[in-house]
Formats: sequence, C-alpha cells, structure tokens
Amino acid sequence: MPVTRGTGWWKSRYLLHWREGSFLTCWLSLCAAETLLTCPSSCTCNSSSLEVDCSGLGLTIIPSDIPLDTQTLLLLNNKLTTLTGSVFANLSALHYLDLSHNFLDLLPQDVFRDLANLTDLHLRNNSIRALEKSLLQRTVLLRRLDLSINGLSQLPAGVFDDLTALHLLSLRSNRLQNLDRETFEPLVRLQKLQLGDNPWECDCNLRDFKHWMEWFSYRGGKIDGLECTLPKELRGKDMRMVPMEMFNYCSQVEDENGSSSVDQTGTPCAKDRPPLLSEPKAEPEPESSTECSQKQRYRPVSVRRAIGTVIIAGVVCGIVCIMMVVAAAYGCIYASLMAKYHRELKRRQPLMGDTEGEHEEQKQISSVA
Ligand SMILES: *[C@@H]1O[C@H](CO)[C@@H](O)[C@H](O)[C@H]1NC(C)=O
Ligand SMILES: *[C@@H]1O[C@H](CO)[C@@H](O)[C@H](O)[C@H]1NC(C)=O
Ligand SMILES: *[C@@H]1O[C@H](CO)[C@@H](O)[C@H](O)[C@H]1NC(C)=O
Ligand SMILES: *[C@@H]1O[C@H](CO)[C@@H](O)[C@H](O)[C@H]1NC(C)=O
Ligand SMILES: *[C@@H]1O[C@H](CO)[C@@H](O)[C@H](O)[C@H]1NC(C)=O
Repeated sequence: MPVTRGTGWWKSRYLLHWREGSFLTCWLSLCAAETLLTCPSSCTCNSSSLEVDCSGLGLTIIPSDIPLDTQTLLLLNNKLTTLTGSVFANLSALHYLDLSHNFLDLLPQDVFRDLANLTDLHLRNNSIRALEKSLLQRTVLLRRLDLSINGLSQLPAGVFDDLTALHLLSLRSNRLQNLDRETFEPLVRLQKLQLGDNPWECDCNLRDFKHWMEWFSYRGGKIDGLECTLPKELRGKDMRMVPMEMFNYCSQVEDENGSSSVDQTGTPCAKDRPPLLSEPKAEPEPESSTECSQKQRYRPVSVRRAIGTVIIAGVVCGIVCIMMVVAAAYGCIYASLMAKYHRELKRRQPLMGDTEGEHEEQKQISSVA
C-alpha cells in the first residue's frame, strides 16, 4: 500500500525498537527514525519494495530526506536542472534510479559515488551535453544505462571503463558523430547497444568502431540501426551494411601521415568525396588513388610541396649544368693552353736535348780517349 509521510514501513521499525528498549532510547530512536526514515513530502513510498516515487511533482530540487534504505528512487518528469554532488550520498542500497524527463545538464563527477549497488540508471530525455570521465567509476554493478535523448556529442575516453556488468546501453538520439572503439571495449557483458538517431559520420574516424561492432555482433550482441548522415553518398545507409573494404583507403591515409590516428581535427578525408561506391577506381593518377589526398586541408600543402620540389630541383639542375659547362669550358681552355705550352716546350727541347747530347758525346769521347 502506498503511504505518505512517515507511516507504514518506517513506523513498524520504530515499533520494534519500542518493544526492545527503554522509553528514552525509544524516544530517541523515534526521533532518529522520524528524521532519517520519513517518506519525503508529496512522494509515495512502498514499504515492501522499498520504493520512493517522487515523479511528476514539478520538483526543482531532490528531497534531502530520502530514506537511506531506499532501493528504488523515481524522480522522472520533474524540473530538475542540476544535481549537487551529495544529493545521493549514503544511498548505497539504491538499485534503481530514474531521472528521466528532466532538464539535467551537467552531472557532478561524484554524484553517483555512493551508489555502489546501483543496477539501473535512467537519464533519458535530459539536456546532458557531456559526461565526466569518472562519473560512473563507482557504479560497478550497473546493468542498464539509459542516456537516450540528450545532447551528447562525444564520450570521454574511459567513461565506461568500470562498467563490466553492463548489459544494456542506450545512446539513442544524441549528437554523436563518431565513437572510439576503446570506450566500448571494457563493456564485456554488453548485450544490447542502442545507437540510432545520431548524426553518424561514416568515415575513417568510425572505422575502428565498426571493427568493434562486427566483433560485438559476432559474440551475439545486438545493435540497433546506425544510419550514416555523412558523407552524402552514404546518407541513410546502415553503417553495419557498409562493407569493410570501403575503409581500406583509411590505412593509406594513415601511411601517408605515418601515424595511427586519423585526422583528429574533425575534417575527415572522405567528407566531400567518400570512398568508392560510385566509382571504385576512378582516377588512375597515383596521387588520387590515395583517396585522402583529396582532403582539402591537406591537398594544397602537398601541391605546394610538389611545386617547391620541382623549383628546387630545377634550380639545382641549372646550377649543376652551369657548373658543368664552366668546368668543361675551363677544361677545354686549360687543355688548349697546356697543349700550346707543350708544343712550345717541345719546340725548344730538341735544341736543348741536342746540345746536351753533344756534351755527353763529347764527354764520352773524352773519357774514352
Ligand atoms: C509495493 O511493492 C510490492 C512489492 O513489489 C507490490 O507487490 C505492491 O503492489 C506495491 N504496492 C503499490 C501500491 O504499488
Ligand atoms: C553519510 O554517512 C556518513 C557516515 O555514515 C555521515 O558522516 C554523513 O554525514 C552522511 N552524509 C549524508 C549526506 O547523509
Ligand atoms: C549493497 O546491498 C547489499 C544488500 O542489498 C548490502 O548488504 C550492501 O551493504 C550494499 N552495498 C553497499 C556498498 O552499500
Ligand atoms: C522530454 O521531456 C519533456 C519535459 O521534460 C517532455 O515535454 C517531452 O515530451 C519529453 N520528450 C520525450 C521524447 O519523451
Ligand atoms: C598527422 O598526425 C598528427 C598527429 O599524429 C597530426 O598532428 C597531423 O596534423 C597529421 N597530419 C596530417 C597531414 O593529417
């Protein structure tokens, strides 16, 4: 039976105490019971399911007097915009928390810190644009996490690292354009992943995640539709149906850059001109066979570089040619000069040689004599 304001299950505890202890202790424990265990005003509490239902009350702050042994806390359809870090402090018995259909934006990183027994967390239809990396660090028993209909545009690396028990994850209807495989790898028990209704960019940035998805499906996981929004040629196509071969060009991009991460600035190579589909081996030129030299950001650089190379090569060639011509001319002149000199020398040498010869002959003659 639903009961409000400090009756029902809370009273029965108090009665137990009454029988056990003295009047004073009882009175004290009654006070304690009244302050700790009352059902928050206007909420509905069920003593057998330990459920506190505060939904649809137009609340802008969460009641501070939620009983500490509450297992189910429903706060959906309110007007909550922010949560303080301590709002769920000490509610370690909580299993099920529903904050759907509110206006929550930023969630303090330690807001779920004490919820070590939480298995269900519902944050559907809020205004959450970013998650803190350590938000879900302590909720290690979480089995269902619903973040659908929010404004998430990316997930911080490692945000799901501790959710090894997670079975269901919904990220439907957010603003996600791509995902990192590493973010999902820790979710070893994941069975169902909802990713529909996001503006997916099916380019190199999503390739590794597609690999992960294939592995996930192989091990029996279910993923709902993942429709590409960009590039134009793949719009409306289901990412799971796009053959892996269409991402072959991505490794060429990586080779070109010499690094494993593809284009972190968010201008994916295939945005304007997506891979294959229409014309698989369209251009024979070697440069355009590496699809991603199509990158607008990249191309002018390489073209400029090429022109620079040509100019430098030309200049160097020219200098070498001129030097060779000069050297050749110098060689010719030197050779002709030397030739002339030798001729001159030879013209004089015979005379000198003759006189020497005569002298020697004379010497020989004299010595013989
Ligand atoms: C209270 O919880 C019990 C156990 O879950 C359930 O059987 C009962 O119907 C609930 N009462 C109301 C009024 O919801
Ligand atoms: C939580 O419990 C601790 C000790 O059990 C206590 O010091 C602290 O005040 C409690 N916090 C809240 C918000 O109830
Ligand atoms: C989790 O719940 C169980 C029983 O439901 C309780 O014994 C345990 O203390 C809770 N864990 C924490 C960390 O509070
Ligand atoms: C989201 O919540 C608002 C109010 O909080 C509500 O008006 C709207 O219908 C909800 N949207 C969906 C899709 O549930
Ligand atoms: C190559 O990768 C590095 C980071 O590894 C990045 O800073 C750089 O902009 C990339 N260059 C090109 C042309 O993509």
